[in-house]
Amino acid sequence: MSAEVPRWRRKAYSIAAMRDLARAALPRPVFDFADGGAEDERTLRRNEAAFDDIALLPKPLDGAAARDLSVTLFGSTLKLPVIVGPTGLAGLFWPDGERCAARAAAKAGTAFCLSHGSVCTLEQLAETGAAPRWMQIFVYRDRGFTRELTERAAKAGYDALVLTIDNQMLGNRERDIRNGFSIPPRFGLSGLAGMALKAKWLWRMRRELPRVTFGNYARPGETADLKALAGRMASLLDPAMSWPDVAELRKLWRGPLILKGVLHPDEARRAMAEGIDGIIVSNHGGRQLDGAAASLEALPGVVATVEGRIPVLLDGGVRRGSDVVKALALGAAACLVGRPQLWGLAIAGEAGVARMLEIYAQEIDRVMGLCGVSNIAGINGNLLLKRKTA
Ligand SMILES: Cc1cc2nc3c(=O)[nH]c(=O)nc-3n(C[C@H](O)[C@H](O)[C@H](O)COP(=O)(O)O)c2cc1C
Repeated sequence: MSAEVPRWRRKAYSIAAMRDLARAALPRPVFDFADGGAEDERTLRRNEAAFDDIALLPKPLDGAAARDLSVTLFGSTLKLPVIVGPTGLAGLFWPDGERCAARAAAKAGTAFCLSHGSVCTLEQLAETGAAPRWMQIFVYRDRGFTRELTERAAKAGYDALVLTIDNQMLGNRERDIRNGFSIPPRFGLSGLAGMALKAKWLWRMRRELPRVTFGNYARPGETADLKALAGRMASLLDPAMSWPDVAELRKLWRGPLILKGVLHPDEARRAMAEGIDGIIVSNHGGRQLDGAAASLEALPGVVATVEGRIPVLLDGGVRRGSDVVKALALGAAACLVGRPQLWGLAIAGEAGVARMLEIYAQEIDRVMGLCGVSNIAGINGNLLLKRKTA
């Protein structure tokens, strides 16, 4: 029996173990592109460390013989409270990476959010039929392009639109500078030498690499000129983005509209006034503003402001089932994961992402069982150790 289990799968026993396997599989610049954060990576570290500061207070005698991990969000029932979040260039980690991840999410019964910066186009992703599928966009300098992407997402049957607000300027990612990594990827001599050592990845990606680009930005019929696209991307973002843009998008998109990158309670309050349907408390996985609060630290303030009127989700540093349970106990409706899906892709494509989601599901189930909680609604602040305040 055990002989049938692939070797990688036996080694992929936790999310941290999957990170180690991905590090071994990927050229350094590619691994670091996903793994790294902005500047001194304080926020990146803080995201994970924030979970250490919270402790669970289990009640085993409540008896949870069977656990139901399902949650209902924006009209869809998900089998687990973990959603595959938007990560640009997933197709750099495995051929057709985005579609592999979307299929794995759908098979696991959860939602998948496509990044604006996917290698495949949003229409190609939709062809998989994976659902629920969400589309992530930015507010662009060219508001016509924002409208165009929104309309394309509606036409392609996306279930929700996610507006990311914390990427209005590009974060200062120093690992990428050190490695000479650029978007789209161009590898220098040392990068190429590193790649040669990762023969399996290189062989797998040999036909894909020349095509790795931002699929959604190449206009139909246009040949993808990588340099032109890279320039266009930097000039596309607009730090002048503001609430009237959110209001405009609200008029344009009829389905659930979710704001991603909210940390401040004031923004959560205004988001509700603008008719936003959901909030993702996030600091972009520590890739943008280094020094920003950990997502988990910011969560209670946003939850208190929202008062249960719209779902509040969280991402950033979620690496264990117990992390998910802690976020839910603090009022999150579900968590998203960024890097873990890329590690899954790097190891085994769709099967790797499936394994990643399976690990979260197994760990959440175990934590719930050990805490004496039989369904997601039963996870609340009563499960947390209250620290004495001085
Ligand atoms: C390689 C990479 C690319 C990302 N690209 C996007 C993106 O295009 N849009 C977006 O809203 N967030 C993007 N993110 C941020 C993730 O959606 C998410 O907020 C973050 O990764 C969560 O933290 P975690 O990686 O600790 O789970 C990206 C993250 C990574 C690691």
